[in-house]
Amino acid sequence: MSDTARNKLIVALDLPGYDEARHLVDTLGDTVGFYKVGLELLFADGLDLVRELKNEGKRVFLDMKFLDIGNTVERAVATAANLGVDFLTIHGHDSKTLKAAARGRAGSPLKLLAVTVLTSLDEADLLEQGIASSPADLVLRRARLAADAGADGVIASGLEAADVRKAAPPGFLIVTPGIRLPGGESGDQTRITTPEAAIRAGADHLVVGRPINAAADPVNAAHAFLEHIARAG
Ligand code: C5P
Repeated sequence: MSDTARNKLIVALDLPGYDEARHLVDTLGDTVGFYKVGLELLFADGLDLVRELKNEGKRVFLDMKFLDIGNTVERAVATAANLGVDFLTIHGHDSKTLKAAARGRAGSPLKLLAVTVLTSLDEADLLEQGIASSPADLVLRRARLAADAGADGVIASGLEAADVRKAAPPGFLIVTPGIRLPGGESGDQTRITTPEAAIRAGADHLVVGRPINAAADPVNAAHAFLEHIARAG
């Protein structure tokens, strides 16, 4: 499988503990080179695994989705940058948070990704929050805010990636979760796309969780995703 396809696939280690995650990484071996560590694993010795993955030459996306006052965000991002991780998420609701995060990672190679609108949310969920906007419009608005505030990219679904790509400055990263193979189970995701659709819409990286981490044969499942990614060119 080409390095280009492999570089685009990020496997989410959404697993209950270090042992399960370590086992999955060992099982996947060289098939996967980029992992996402989120809140579930973080509190189950996930940071130990993060350090190990970096020592083993893997890339690591720390999915913390920070949202707090500027001082707290700036200092938390600085601490995360010291871990040597590659990607870190913050919520992209407001420019104060985004700018604080950009100050926190100053001078480090860490890429800051702003979460625009969670891929599990639809228009009714936004209305519940008092936001009278479609997910697509809000994603675009927040992507522009993120770019202006100094973020390196956004998390956006494959349904919005094309609009973000058109509006974003050159090199702005689009990382897309909510990825399923044709006919795959959606789980709690609502704004899902196939790997081909997301890549063709402009996504740089795809985050795949349950279709690989809960598969009976994770290596086979990862290869299936890599083939679909490679097909999209
Ligand atoms: O299992 P599944 O493929 O749905 O996992 C998607 C991963 O992407 C999860 O770890 C989830 O937390 C993350 N994510 C998301 N939507 C966002 C940001 C992150 O689904 N907007």
